[in-house]
Amino acid sequence: MAISTTRPNALPPLQRVLVVGGGGREHALTWALGKCPGMDAVRITPGNGGLVDEQRDSIAETDGPNLVELCRRKTIDLVVVGPEAPLAAGVADHLRQAGIPVFGPGAEGAKLEASKAWAKQLMRDAGIPTAGHWSVTSEAQALAVLEEVKRPLVVKADGLAAGKGVTVADTVAEAEQAIRSAFEGRFGEAGSQLVLEERLQGPEVSVFALCDGERMVILPPAQDHKRLEEGDRGPNTGGMGAYAPAPLLDAAGLEQVRREVLEPTLQALRGRGIDYRGVIYAGLMLTSDGPQVIEFNCRFGDPECQTLMPLLGPELGLVLQACALGRLDLAPQLTISNKCSACVVAAAAGYPDAPRKGDAIQLEFSDDELLQVFHAGTRRVDDGRLVTSGGRVLAVTALGSDFNQAFASAYSGLSKLHFDGIIYRRDIGHQVRTD
Ligand code: AMP
Ligand code: GLY
Repeated sequence: MAISTTRPNALPPLQRVLVVGGGGREHALTWALGKCPGMDAVRITPGNGGLVDEQRDSIAETDGPNLVELCRRKTIDLVVVGPEAPLAAGVADHLRQAGIPVFGPGAEGAKLEASKAWAKQLMRDAGIPTAGHWSVTSEAQALAVLEEVKRPLVVKADGLAAGKGVTVADTVAEAEQAIRSAFEGRFGEAGSQLVLEERLQGPEVSVFALCDGERMVILPPAQDHKRLEEGDRGPNTGGMGAYAPAPLLDAAGLEQVRREVLEPTLQALRGRGIDYRGVIYAGLMLTSDGPQVIEFNCRFGDPECQTLMPLLGPELGLVLQACALGRLDLAPQLTISNKCSACVVAAAAGYPDAPRKGDAIQLEFSDDELLQVFHAGTRRVDDGRLVTSGGRVLAVTALGSDFNQAFASAYSGLSKLHFDGIIYRRDIGHQVRTD
C-alpha cells in the first residue's frame, strides 16, 4: 500500500467510535474510550456479555464490506481494531479505502505479527536488536541448520498460530521434533515456513507504542504471565494476568527501547512504503546485552490492555484518532496515572485445551474508579443470566498506590466473582509483591 497522504490540519469531532473484536482487550478499549469528553457512543462488534445489547453489533470482525456499511449507517468517526486476525486479513485497508479513519495497521503492516520471517528480515535490515535467525521453508533445510549449529534452537511457525506456534527447545532432539511436527502440518499453513532462532535468556517485558505512521506515544511497560499454573509453570495460555508499570524497565530502559527498537521499526516500515497507524507491541527479553525483540505484534496485548487502560487519561480517544489520521502532533498529551495496575484473569474449567462453556457467573460487586471487571468469554442467555462462553472468562483490574495494594484489591474483587470450575493464579505479580 502506498503511503497515504490524508493528513487533516485539525482533528475533527470524535463522537462515535466502533471497536472491532469480542475479547477482554476490546471490552477494556470500549470502557476507556467511553471516558473521552464529548463522546456520544462507543459501539463494539461482536462484543461479549459485558456490553449491553444497545452497544453491540453482530458483524464478524473480518467482514470488511459489512463493517464499512455499519460505519456509514452509524456515522462512525473512528474504528479501533482489537485482534490480529482482522488486521492481517486487511480489514483496516478496507475501511480506509472507504474513507473511514482506523486505528490499526493494514495487512502489509500487520505482517509484523502475521509473518515472523518477514518481521525478522525487517529487524535484520534495520539493525534492531533481536536473536540471530534462519528462515526455512522445508524440513530438510531446517534439519540442516540444526545439524550445523548443534544447539537447541527456538522453533517458530511463521504465521499466526494463536500463541501456540513457538517451541523453546531444551535439547537438539526437542527442536528436531518441533520441526518435524510443524512440517507434518501441526500449525496448518502457518507452519509451512519456520523461523529458527537463537535462544536468549532474561526476563520478558512488553512495550506498546501508539503510532501515527511517523510519530509515537509509548505506554508504560507491562509484564504478563503466560503460563497457566502458579510458579510460571504448566502450559502456555493467552495470559493469566499482568501488571504495569513493570519496574524491570525504568525510564532510561524505556528510552533505550524507543531509540533502538520502536523508532527504527516505524522508520523501517515507512521505508517499505507502509504507513503504520496502530499499535506496535514489542515483546522484549532483557538480556545481558540489552533489550532484544522476541516478537512483534500489531495490536494491544491481552490482558496487558486490560491492565494499561485504567492507567490512561480520557484523552486516549483523541490520541487514537490522531494516530488514525496521521497527526499525533495534534493530539493532547496522554496523561498516565502514577498508580500501579494489577490484572488477574479468571478462566474456565478445562482452559486452555478444552474450556467448558455455559457455567452461570455471579458477579457480586460493581466497578468503581479503582476496580474494573472486563469481560471476555461471557454471554447473556435469554433470561438475562450471564454464563461462561470461552477460555478466559473475565479479568479484574485494580489500581493501587503500590503493587501490594493493587493486587490485594484485585484479589478481593475476584473473591466476589463465582462460577463453577473457576481457575485463576494467586501469584500474579509475584515479582513486584512483597506481602
Ligand atoms: P513468541 O510467540 O514469539 O512471543 O514466543 C512465545 C514465548 O517463547 C516468548 O514469550 C518467550 O518466552 C519464548 N521465546 C520466544 N523466542 C525466544 C528466544 N529467542 N529465546 C528464548 N525464549 C524465546
Ligand atoms: N498477552 C500476550 C498477548 O497478547 O500476545
